Amino acid sequence: GAIGKDGYRHYMEKELHEHPVVIGQTLRRFVNPVTHKIELPELPFDMKSLKRGIITACGSAFYAGVIGRYWLEELARLPIDLDVASEMRYRNPPFDKGGMGLLVSQSGETADTLAALRALKKADQKIISVLNNEHSSMARESDLVLGMDAGVEIAVASTKAFTAQLTVLACLTLVMGQERGTITPQYADECLTALLDLPSRVAEVLQMQEQIQKMAQIVAQVQSVIYLGRGIMFPVAMEGALKLKEISYIHADAYAAGEMKHGPIALIDNTVPVIALLPSGPLFEKTLSNLQEAKARGGRILVFTDAKGAERVQSIAEQIVVLPTVHSFVTPPLYTVPVQMLAYEAALLKGTDVDQPRNLAKSVTVE
Ligand code: AGP
Repeated sequence: GAIGKDGYRHYMEKELHEHPVVIGQTLRRFVNPVTHKIELPELPFDMKSLKRGIITACGSAFYAGVIGRYWLEELARLPIDLDVASEMRYRNPPFDKGGMGLLVSQSGETADTLAALRALKKADQKIISVLNNEHSSMARESDLVLGMDAGVEIAVASTKAFTAQLTVLACLTLVMGQERGTITPQYADECLTALLDLPSRVAEVLQMQEQIQKMAQIVAQVQSVIYLGRGIMFPVAMEGALKLKEISYIHADAYAAGEMKHGPIALIDNTVPVIALLPSGPLFEKTLSNLQEAKARGGRILVFTDAKGAERVQSIAEQIVVLPTVHSFVTPPLYTVPVQMLAYEAALLKGTDVDQPRNLAKSVTVE
């Protein structure tokens, strides 16, 4: 039957509020409650001897894939090639037989992703698809579908499907890392505990609407913003920038923080705010100094960080949203939630059609 908005103003708002439930449900699909171990269906290759993987998708699903790449390379020590599907389908890179082709899609019907899937299959890659729609064209043509429990997503801007995709990719990473002996069972357990705790932390972030609205008031008044992230926060910055463009029509670009000095910093003045995704950790100081450079050029600095980071960034930031402190493994899904909320709040201020933004379709079935 028809799905209502449950008292929310838009499907997007409702779907944002479903993040905790969707992450929890998706974890329940893969985590054995008795043994506290992640159990995946049998993968179509031998995890130990696997030499290489390739990840491809479009839009937000691609950014989920980029995060998957950081995880799989870092923790499972698996080299990953990566490209958007519209490029991958024509790129014709060299392959060894039996590699992993990893596709990510909410709908399972995106034309470019489906074409990339077919190209990878033709190149004898084993296809794993991370899909919300398990009865889709991509599902039918995959060697293995890793499903998620995001439910139907109606808003054109993807929200809950994205964190569900990350949840699946996180489980895949932990299983592969253990199987390949590249992470210890203790470390895997630590990460899993952080994942299981994530729905509660995300629920806390959803309560931070007021602070995010304040940031949105700044963002809604400008024509362009720059999102910055370093390491695994870079794809989260890309997700934030895409969402802002899609529903508020504010131009936003995401840069790897270290790349600023190679060009984009020329854009900075007091009309182009910089939004930084800055959890404390080994990369914190580097990104902080990138922000100081932006600040010195008149940039307005808006920051998502944790309590420890907030202390360090206080003197240069115009606004700080202090997020819960979490294990570094789960910072990508956690920081996704406020950047999606920011786009939503900015769109409300601009009065755009949040659920049906101009020029966009929910599922892009043409090339
Ligand atoms: C995200 O907000 C988008 N509307 C869009 O980028 C989307 O993620 C992309 O079109 C891929 O769709 P899919 O996940 O259904 O393949």
